[in-house]
Amino acid sequence: MCGIVGYIGRQIAYPILIEGLKKLEYRGYDSAGVALLCHEGLKVVKAKGEITVLEEKVGQSFPAGNMGIGHTRWATHGAPSDVNAHPHCACTEEFTVVHNGIIENYRALRHWLESEGHRFSSETDTEVLAHLVEHYYNGDLLKTVQEAIKKVEGSFAMVVMCRGENDKLVCARRDSPLIIGLGEGENFIASDVPAVLNYTRKIYILEDGEFAVITASSVQICSAECTMLQKEVREITWDAVAAEKGGFRHFMLKEIMEQPRALRETMRGRLLNGGREINLSELNLTPEEINDISRIYIVACGTAYHAGLVGKYAMEKLLRLPVEVDLASEFRYRDPLLDEKTMVIVISQSGETADTLAALRLARSRGNKVLAITNVVGSSVSREADKVLYTWAGPEIAVASTKAYLTQILSLYLLTLYLAQVRGLLDRQELEKAGEALFALPAKVEEILSREVEIQDIAAYLSCWESTFFIGRNMDFAVAMEGALKLKEISYIHAEAYASGELKHGTLALIVEGIPVIALATQKDIIEKSLSNIKEVKARNGYVICLAQEGTEDLQNEVDRVFYLPATEDFLTPILSVVPLQLLSYYAAVARCCPVDKPRNLAKSVTVE
Ligand code: AGP
Repeated sequence: MCGIVGYIGRQIAYPILIEGLKKLEYRGYDSAGVALLCHEGLKVVKAKGEITVLEEKVGQSFPAGNMGIGHTRWATHGAPSDVNAHPHCACTEEFTVVHNGIIENYRALRHWLESEGHRFSSETDTEVLAHLVEHYYNGDLLKTVQEAIKKVEGSFAMVVMCRGENDKLVCARRDSPLIIGLGEGENFIASDVPAVLNYTRKIYILEDGEFAVITASSVQICSAECTMLQKEVREITWDAVAAEKGGFRHFMLKEIMEQPRALRETMRGRLLNGGREINLSELNLTPEEINDISRIYIVACGTAYHAGLVGKYAMEKLLRLPVEVDLASEFRYRDPLLDEKTMVIVISQSGETADTLAALRLARSRGNKVLAITNVVGSSVSREADKVLYTWAGPEIAVASTKAYLTQILSLYLLTLYLAQVRGLLDRQELEKAGEALFALPAKVEEILSREVEIQDIAAYLSCWESTFFIGRNMDFAVAMEGALKLKEISYIHAEAYASGELKHGTLALIVEGIPVIALATQKDIIEKSLSNIKEVKARNGYVICLAQEGTEDLQNEVDRVFYLPATEDFLTPILSVVPLQLLSYYAAVARCCPVDKPRNLAKSVTVE
């Protein structure tokens, strides 16, 4: 996610902005920039790369102004570059803007503004905000910003600076975080607390739909109707390290908790009208190309591979096409069978995994078009694929992938429904039903997260064992694979995922009294089959922890622990069922005093074979 900092007050702004941006580096970024208002006017410096590159570009003779804004960019629209970095000006240098979020209708706004004579210099959605402010400016910056954002669809945390009103900064917020740090004769703005902690622990949290006018000596917060709002001053007690994790003990837990937001961001602009319409026009796939697909090949590594396994079930169910899912490290060396009607999909959070990149290149060398699902704009995979469907999960810092996995599955569902829609495989009612169920998932994930204490209690039991099993049928088996990997990689407890029906073909020999078996039984149409496998385990005195949809017949007497998931369409349950497994792994690892965010022997991105 992008990082925003702003300052106005009695000190020189530049060093404060740079230090604030450095405190936000953990959020991940690919470019940075600052804009300062000083006696000589406006100075804007932007640079692709690390903040140190920006500092070298500014040099030692930095502007002496006492107000300014800064930004670290996590690219969404427009690859990382100097020009696409924020802050952005409009046609003149009268207005400067920094922004965090996604302007969904930026193309339409940009066309309209260009028709009104505005000239754009970047590829970003953000620059539209600068031109809107310039277009509507009426001598009152606050009212101008309020007018301008009425045209905007999407999410934003934005700060606007105006050369002609050089005693204030104006902020607005919708769906992206923004806080205001309260100082003595100075005030601060930031995306997150770490950027201001060295100066103040007193903050306002700007809420959606609120605006702020910030001067060196005052902070006024108002509604869209200019009603002045009395805000509670919040005292931050975290230390700087905890603040980087948003107060969470580990990045992994922070990222697990960010999943509802990651899902909503990934749906944004793609699931319209409450889920009744799928829009993946960004892929520029023609109906002919879509109808020409006769086979799908999904290639990835690790957790991304497990997301592909979930996608297989959904795609085969809804598209009635054969879908093969392969490990990239296997795919690249087994002379795969590909033809011109095979759609190849690669999935990679980092977009830099060597095996996945090699698989992409192999597929393209065979003449296949490759669609990439990735979380990093400008990554190697995104640049070399023919089509890219981005997950908007924001930077994932913990080695164990959680929110990226969830948004990868969501992206596969969106793609499946889109292809089904174009191929006429779902009537409008079926499509709307599936889309509405998808749209409702973030709130259901929130409900599960609110019950983390239940999971923590189960994790205490799990943490005492050196070996566990995860079992499930169909999509539950795919999620069991991911659950087992999560537990292994951060708690170091050996975990094996098995198709429930396979137990009696060997693994049952390992079921001893008390051994934890996490049994997924979310697929209502085969619940009896799942239950009979659970009974096999119970008959050997295994300790069964069951995940099932609420409304499933009372399982309390059949298993040792049960965690009921909010009900949804069967084929969508993986987005819900993996969340308790992520928390289970996290709390088991914490109970075993493991280095959760950086497990031994592992890297966040495996850029070597
Ligand atoms: C998942 O928790 C692991 N960190 C690992 O399996 C990861 O998913 C795999 O290395 C693929 O990474 P990528 O998505 O960046 O390509």
